[in-house]
Amino acid sequence: MKKELLWGAALSNVQAEGGYLEDGKGLNVYDTLEIQFEMGQNIQSDTSVAADHYHRYKEDIAHMKEMGFTAYRFSIVWSRIHPMGDDGRTNEAGLAYYEEMIDALLEAGIEPVVSLVHFDMPDHLRTTYNGFLDRRVIDFYADHVSVVAQRFKNKVKYWITYNEMNTAFYSPRLVAGAEKPENMSDEKFHALLTHHTQLAHAKAVLAIKKANPDAMVAGMDAYTTVYPYSCRPQDVQAARFTDNMMNNLTFDVMVNGEYPSYYLSFLANRDVMLDLENDDMKTIKKASEQLDYLAFSYYQSMVVQAPEESEDLGVFQDLLLKNEKKKLFNPYVKANAWGWQIDPLGLRIALETMYERYHKPLFIVENGIGIDDQLTENRKVYDDERIAYYQGHIQNMLDAIKIDGVDVIGYLAWAPIDFLSSHKEMRKRYGFVYIDRKDDGTGTLARIPKKSYYWYKKVIASNGEALENDIVY
Ligand code: BG6
Repeated sequence: MKKELLWGAALSNVQAEGGYLEDGKGLNVYDTLEIQFEMGQNIQSDTSVAADHYHRYKEDIAHMKEMGFTAYRFSIVWSRIHPMGDDGRTNEAGLAYYEEMIDALLEAGIEPVVSLVHFDMPDHLRTTYNGFLDRRVIDFYADHVSVVAQRFKNKVKYWITYNEMNTAFYSPRLVAGAEKPENMSDEKFHALLTHHTQLAHAKAVLAIKKANPDAMVAGMDAYTTVYPYSCRPQDVQAARFTDNMMNNLTFDVMVNGEYPSYYLSFLANRDVMLDLENDDMKTIKKASEQLDYLAFSYYQSMVVQAPEESEDLGVFQDLLLKNEKKKLFNPYVKANAWGWQIDPLGLRIALETMYERYHKPLFIVENGIGIDDQLTENRKVYDDERIAYYQGHIQNMLDAIKIDGVDVIGYLAWAPIDFLSSHKEMRKRYGFVYIDRKDDGTGTLARIPKKSYYWYKKVIASNGEALENDIVY
């Protein structure tokens, strides 16, 4: 393959840093999140220590350098920079912390890729305003982004405005600091969250481009490749509907600068209006013209079945819930211990679909598998299951480039080190480096490279060509 891709991994800082009240940081929506038991575990890790990345990031960057990373995505924690979020007070210690991190990356020859909101909204904005449901929070966010973009305009080229913006409706508290008010319909809540997060994204694009017109700016989706459960036409239609609402809507608006007709009629048929004010659509349009690339995460694919009893799809999240209850799994692909379906070809399909639809360069900024890795007595982690996951996905990305002609900027695995999952579990591990820390708070926090660490190092050195698992560990 001729084109040199950017290679590396990505991390969400609230999930890894710890130090949750250090150096003037304010609490954020992840710090205050009460655990949602995903696998029936009964221990909750907390964000006071996490992976202690706050204090050990230099050691972590040294590992990234040794693996040969050319890019690394991390998030600048909003509540570290603006602890309250609404009082105009900027925490210089927070900016200085990330500046040192960026300098360490540049020094190591690693391109920083910065995410701006990744489960880190100041909790004060959630409790006082109901997060992005309130328009005032959009401007607090835009002010925050301006401060960050101005500070790092000469050091950071790649920016991501909002982590997995399309998941705001499914995880409103964590992703948008919002909760559905009692008397509000799901459709209204969806419309408000969609429009307000689009505006937040658009204002962030404009703020970053104002600070540096040469910056490369993206919006980001969590992309789940959607298949119909069968070739029954109703299943196909239900899958298309889900695909539009879950995957396409966010990028359709970001790229085209207008709402697509399927969404406008979805709302109109339910008597819901978009919360449009003054220059909203002008702002969204202007930002769409300045968007450089599209970033996305990919973990799995899903199957969708239409309801048997009627051909009316109803409200789309009901459909998803019904499917979830039925435990519909794709029989052709495997799953990890958490039931996430492992589908490497789904990544190629995702790349090809998005590239045809948007004609924008694509950046895979999260792809990985959660495993309950075990540390052996001689302090090794044999994570061949992770290597197999990456082999399949990287091969399919290369196929998308070579066979389908997709323009890919780079590949960032999830993640360089272990950290707390979005459900605050330490044992759902994703790293190339094992962190000696358990959910009960025991462990030395030592960093131990897993087998996949050495495998990925070889993959990067070969620009993705040497994928065999021939590592002697
Ligand atoms: C993505 C998020 O949704 O998935 C990450 O951007 C998250 O922050 C990752 O950690 C994996 O999900 P989970 O629930 O296994 O942590």
